[in-house]
Amino acid sequence: MNKLKICLAGASGWAGSALARGISDADDMELVAAISRSHAGKTLGEVIGVQGLNTPIFASVEDALKTDPDVFVEYTKPDVAKSHVLSALKSGAYVVIGTSGLSVKDYDEINKVAQEVNRGVLAVGNFALTAVLLQKFAEMAAKYIPHWEIIDYAHAEKKDAPSGTARELANRLSNIQEAKLEVPLEEVEGPKESRGARLQGTQVHSIRLPGYIISVDAIFGMPDQKLILRHEAGSSAEPYVSGALLAIREVSNLVGLHRGLDSVMKF
Ligand SMILES: NC(=O)c1ccc[n+]([C@@H]2O[C@H](COP(=O)([O-])OP(=O)(O)OC[C@H]3O[C@@H](n4cnc5c(N)ncnc54)[C@H](OP(=O)(O)O)[C@@H]3O)[C@@H](O)[C@H]2O)c1
Repeated sequence: MNKLKICLAGASGWAGSALARGISDADDMELVAAISRSHAGKTLGEVIGVQGLNTPIFASVEDALKTDPDVFVEYTKPDVAKSHVLSALKSGAYVVIGTSGLSVKDYDEINKVAQEVNRGVLAVGNFALTAVLLQKFAEMAAKYIPHWEIIDYAHAEKKDAPSGTARELANRLSNIQEAKLEVPLEEVEGPKESRGARLQGTQVHSIRLPGYIISVDAIFGMPDQKLILRHEAGSSAEPYVSGALLAIREVSNLVGLHRGLDSVMKF
């Protein structure tokens, strides 16, 4: 069996190193290249403490892509993610995006290039199965309840806001309908920002405080009743690994941009 050749950008990071361990344990995959500026020139095994993992680490995407990967995984930062992804697509790789913080405009551009080169991109704001289920339940709720808002919580150092999970959720709900506002934003008395950011038809509020771990509430309100769907992540990156491995295995069946792990799951 030919192993899938993977290039992982962000392999030394919190999420990327957990995924690198998962890929190195998988029988059907081979990690042919890793990207991390501060560890370039070393092997990934040395950096993340996995014996026998001799994957070379490169500082630049251009050098890493010379290893000719089948799938490129983007797990770095939003300011460089789009250019990494476009380079990978142009080199002929399929792409899985785990990085959060890309805009709708970024995704539109990525989709255009992916269609042009006839490759698939799977962008997943949250690879955890429980978060995928929250998205599905929220989509069901939005069909029946027209009023909702999203609150995303994270530790104080998280720079991107809203979180990838909240952005992806707003994107999905926009395919169902726009959340209704009883008081239009232009009629709000006081600072309009206190009503959150309007993202694809949903009000999204991002809390960034010490003491919080990553979680999200999708709140649906009806007269005299409400439904609160809540996802809470733990403190390790383990919950994201199996979903990311599934995305890597399935992305070559796609063409163009697809958002959400459920694009490749059966419900
Ligand atoms: N989709 C999901 O389920 C999921 C789950 C967890 C996290 N995330 C997202 O994944 C991203 C990474 O999170 P993290 O917590 O792992 O971050 P992190 O610990 O800071 O790791 C970032 C990684 O990216 C590399 N990097 C940073 N800037 C780079 C650049 N300009 N060029 C090349 N490599 C660069 C870093 O290595 P060097 O600094 O050495 O270059 C490091 O390996 C974030 O956007 C986060 O929100 C998504």
